Amino acid sequence: MCGILGTVIHDGVNELRETLITGLKAVEYRGYDSAGVAILGPNGLFINKRAGKIAVLEDHLGGDVLSGTVGLGHTRWATHGVPSDNNSHPHQDFRERITIVHNGIIENYAELKQELMTMGVEFTTETDTEVAANLIGFYYNGDLPAAVCRAARRIDGSFSMCVMAKDQPRMLIGIRNKLPLLVGHGPGVTYLGSDVTAFLAYTREVTYLADGEIVVIDGPACRFMDWRTGEPVVKQQERVEWDIEQAQKGGFETFMMKEIHEQPAVIRQILERYLPSEDAPVYLPGLDDFAAERETRLISLVGCGTAFHACKVGKYMLEGLAGVPCRVQLAHEALYHQAPIGKHAVTVAVSQSGETADTLGAVRTQSAIGSPVIAIANVVGSSLTREADLTLYTMAGPEISVASTKAFTCQLTVLTLIALWVAEKFQRKPPEELKRLKTELLGIPAKMELILESKYTLEKLARVYRHVDHFYYLGRGISYPVAMEGALKLKEISYVHAEGYAGGEMKHGAIALIEPGFPTCLLAPRSNLVDKMVGNMEEILSRKGEVMVVTNVPQRFADYDVHVFPFPDCPQVLSPLLMSLPLQLFAYYSAKLRDRDIDQPRNLAKSVVVE
Ligand code: G6P
Repeated sequence: MCGILGTVIHDGVNELRETLITGLKAVEYRGYDSAGVAILGPNGLFINKRAGKIAVLEDHLGGDVLSGTVGLGHTRWATHGVPSDNNSHPHQDFRERITIVHNGIIENYAELKQELMTMGVEFTTETDTEVAANLIGFYYNGDLPAAVCRAARRIDGSFSMCVMAKDQPRMLIGIRNKLPLLVGHGPGVTYLGSDVTAFLAYTREVTYLADGEIVVIDGPACRFMDWRTGEPVVKQQERVEWDIEQAQKGGFETFMMKEIHEQPAVIRQILERYLPSEDAPVYLPGLDDFAAERETRLISLVGCGTAFHACKVGKYMLEGLAGVPCRVQLAHEALYHQAPIGKHAVTVAVSQSGETADTLGAVRTQSAIGSPVIAIANVVGSSLTREADLTLYTMAGPEISVASTKAFTCQLTVLTLIALWVAEKFQRKPPEELKRLKTELLGIPAKMELILESKYTLEKLARVYRHVDHFYYLGRGISYPVAMEGALKLKEISYVHAEGYAGGEMKHGAIALIEPGFPTCLLAPRSNLVDKMVGNMEEILSRKGEVMVVTNVPQRFADYDVHVFPFPDCPQVLSPLLMSLPLQLFAYYSAKLRDRDIDQPRNLAKSVVVE
């Protein structure tokens, strides 16, 4: 959840304040309760840490030049201890020899703390991280890698940490257990980051640490070891394809608005790679071999948050187009409920970050009983992609806004392609129907562009509902999970209470809340369910509720006193790709009118790496 960053200058002394602040801002989406930096330089160790966002820290740093040889930065999503200056990272051991930043949770921190206290160690914060700093400090006798390995072997939980010692002016240690950490190799500087965006402004050459690995950066030297055994590990350097422009706002007022607008382009890119034309077969790298080796009787989809909604849409696509039975589970539920599935059930794990702890946990549970795993992930080299038997990348580029938009529609696109691939390979649909669907799919980016052109209609609709505190979203069939995602978007960024319901469920309870002025957003794509949605609408209107309809059959709603947002025509199975955009924009403008922090909504983090 937290963002961490480290830098080591190979030779001489550099100004580090700018590097650390720029890097921290790029990973601020991982947590923004507090931020801090530590710089080891010719004048000793400088630490400044503050509750609040990085901007607060920047104010406190003032205009001073902060030069040094080793730097650490941290942006926090609080787990142990309230967000305060004191609980902010970096943390030190009580003798102030060791300084660390940490992402994760130390599960046995209470007993370690007790043990250290009996040996005279004093604690000043409520954090688990201070325990790790003191444990390393306790073992430190001049050999920093040895002390860090020894401490790590005593810690239960998940962590990635960067560690420096006051008397080692060129050394920085990075250590990983279950949470991401990678090394960036820049000219004259080596970086550590919890994700590549932390140092993407400076280098694209990286080495990913695997679980159980430690890197010792000593000036220009960089060596990797297994921290459990001390054995050296040989690593490959890789080049990431993302570039810094993709991780910047590019003229938009927020990352979320930029990412909403990127959807036609990123989906075009996926289609160019996986479906170059309507006459070409769907090509998903690795899927042929994967399928040839197994008999698949069931697909078990898992994910959290927005990715879970993508899984639910995927079920309708895979069952409807490909005829494969599917089950969908929230990853944290799958983790603790062992369904009787085995090697004939393929697990499809959907995750933007590829680091969500619950999703990784569910994957481990399901692979332990023999289920092969396909990851649908966005972040290249993420933990999920390393654990899965096959990864299909969503290629959305960096998604910085906490509320997911382009990652969601890219997940839907990949799921559609999997469904088409199965339908084609196993002749589940007539070839002419598949060709028609492929043609329609290739036309989706252009239709998304048309929706974006009418975004101000959604701003007007957001104005209509600017004072409401509650919202229902209703859909049926494949639109039901889209309704859930629409409600989640509104909730996440505008803090308006919203619920996504299946239209048929309305009369079983939810309708009790309908009273004059209570708003409902109906999703009504062209399908055999439109009449049912009209029925829902009439029930709401007869109780004087307010209705807004997102539909590609607007004529069906023309005679009613409702707000209609029309979207371009498309087959029902592809409608989630189009309907998602007006819902994202409506949530966006609703949040803006309420003056919310759209990219960094309260209490949330982009990547939830703790259970
Ligand atoms: C968090 C984010 C959501 C996201 C979910 C799953 O809750 O706030 O926006 O959908 O995690 O993240 P993932 O990276 O696994 O897709």
